[in-house]
Amino acid sequence: MSDTLVSEAARGFRGRILVIDDEADIRESLDLLLSSEGYQVDGAENAAAGLRRLEAGVYDLVLLDLMMPDRSGLELLEELRQWDRQTPVFVITAYGSIESAVRALKAGANDYFTKPWDNEKLLIEIDRMITKGRLEQENIHLKRALKQRYSFPNIVGKSERMQTILDLVARVAPTRSTILITGETGTGKELIAKAIHANSPRADKMFVAVNSGSLPPDLLESTLFGHVKGAFTGAVSARKGYFEIANGGTIFFDEVGNINLETQAKLLRVIQEREFMPLGSSETVRVDVRILAATNADLKRLVEEGRFREDLYYRLNVINLVMPPLRERKEDIPLLVEHFFDKYSRENNKFLGPDGRSLLRFEPEAMEVLMEHSWPGNVRELENAVERAVVLAREPRVPVDVLPEHVLHSSGIRIRRDAKGYLPPDASLFEIVADFERRKIIEALESANWSQTEAAEALRIPLSTLNQKIKRLEIAIPKKSELARR
Ligand SMILES: Nc1ncnc2c1ncn2[C@@H]1O[C@H](COP(=O)(O)OP(=O)(O)OP(=O)(O)O)[C@@H](O)[C@H]1O
Ligand SMILES: [Mg+2]
Repeated sequence: MSDTLVSEAARGFRGRILVIDDEADIRESLDLLLSSEGYQVDGAENAAAGLRRLEAGVYDLVLLDLMMPDRSGLELLEELRQWDRQTPVFVITAYGSIESAVRALKAGANDYFTKPWDNEKLLIEIDRMITKGRLEQENIHLKRALKQRYSFPNIVGKSERMQTILDLVARVAPTRSTILITGETGTGKELIAKAIHANSPRADKMFVAVNSGSLPPDLLESTLFGHVKGAFTGAVSARKGYFEIANGGTIFFDEVGNINLETQAKLLRVIQEREFMPLGSSETVRVDVRILAATNADLKRLVEEGRFREDLYYRLNVINLVMPPLRERKEDIPLLVEHFFDKYSRENNKFLGPDGRSLLRFEPEAMEVLMEHSWPGNVRELENAVERAVVLAREPRVPVDVLPEHVLHSSGIRIRRDAKGYLPPDASLFEIVADFERRKIIEALESANWSQTEAAEALRIPLSTLNQKIKRLEIAIPKKSELARR
C-alpha cells in the first residue's frame, strides 16, 4: 500500500466522490455533508468539466444532476458509459420526474434521488454502493484465482447450506448413482434434479420428469413401461414408455411417495435389472437410465406405515440431498429477489436495463418484510411475490404495499410496548396497524364469547385467517374452564 493510501485510511477516508451540478449551493451543501462523513469531494459545474475529471478515473462514485445548461446529465452519462461501465453514478432529478429517472437508469445510472433528497438515505446508499463496488472487485480477483469447475447458472444461493448442496451436486452429477432429493414444497427439488442431469455426461440425452402422483396406477405403468398394440382396451397402437424415451438420459420421479405398492415393485425391478417388459409384451427391453427421485413426504415414515417398500427406499436413497427451507437460509433472499426481478423484467419487457438486468429494486421497508416472512411456500412463493411486483410496479423503486397481502400480514411483526403497555412513540406503521388489528380481534372475540367461528363471521374474514391472526398477534384465548367461571 502506498503512503498516501495508508494516511488516507488512518484519517477515516472512505472514498472519492465527484459532484456534477451547475448550482453552486447544491455542490457546496453536498460537499459539506459528504466531507463530514469522511469522503473526499470534488465538484464540477458543468458536464464538460465533469467528463474531464472523470477521465482521470479516480472516483468511487459520481453524483450527477440531470438538468444542466450546457449538456444534459443524461448525455454525459451516455458518453461516460461508453468507456466506463463501472464507476457508480447516482443521478439527482427534479421532484416528480420519474420518467427521466427511468431514462437515466436505462442509460446505466445505479440509483436516483429526487430533490429534495433525504440526506440520511443518500449517505446510506452511497456507503452501500461504494462497499459493494469494493467487494465486487475483490470477488473478481477471487474468482480468477479459483477456477470454477461447474456452473449452475440459474440456481441462486450463497448461503452455506446451498453451497454445501451445490458442492455435493457437482460431485455426484457425473456419476450414475441414484439420488433422492427431499425438501418442502417449492425448495427447488426439480431445479436441482435438472442441474444434476445438465452437469452429467447424459446432458445431451433426455431428462424425463414423471409426476408420479397425478396418474392413476395403470396409466402410470403404461406411461413408464409403454405398451404393445392391443395390450388393453384403447391401446390402438404400440407406445414407448418413459423408460425407453429416457434411454441414455435421466428419469426423474417427482413425488415418488405417491407411487402405489404394485408399481413400486416393478420400479424396483427396473432399478435392479435395468430391464422391463412393456404392457402386453413378452419381450424385455434393456435400458440405461439414471434415476432421480424427489419427495416432500417423509419416506421413512411411509416405510414404517407400510405404504412404501423398504427395499425401494434404500435403492433410491443412495445419496440424499436435503433442500433447506427458505426460512433457514434467509441470507439468500436478496439474491433470489434480484434474480427474479431480472427474470420477470425480461419476460415482461418492463424496467429492463441496458445490460439486460432489471432496474427494479424493493424499497428498504419491503425488503424488511420479505426478510421477516416465514415463506411456507419457499422459493416458489418468493418467486410469485416478485413476479407480481414486476407486473404491478409503476416505478423502479417498488414500495412495500405491492407485496401480497398474506406476505405483508404474516410476517411476525413484533409489537413493541412500553411498561404501561402503550406503543412506543417511534412505532412503525406495521406496529400501529398490527396493534389496531389485535384490539379489534379481541373485541370481536369478547362479544362472541370467545367463539372463533362467530368472531370470524362478525369480522367477515375466513375462520382460517382468524386462526392465523390469533397466532401471529399472540392473542391468548382463555381456556374453557376459565370461561365457565366468568
Ligand atoms: N435456488 C434457486 N434459485 C433460483 N430459483 C429457484 C431456486 N430454488 C427454487 N427456484 C425456483 O422456484 C420454483 C420452485 O422450484 P421447484 O419446482 O424446483 O421446487 P420443488 O421443490 O420441486 O417444489 P414442489 O415440491 O412443490 O414440486 C421454480 O420456479 C424454481 O426455478
Ligand atoms: Mg417439484
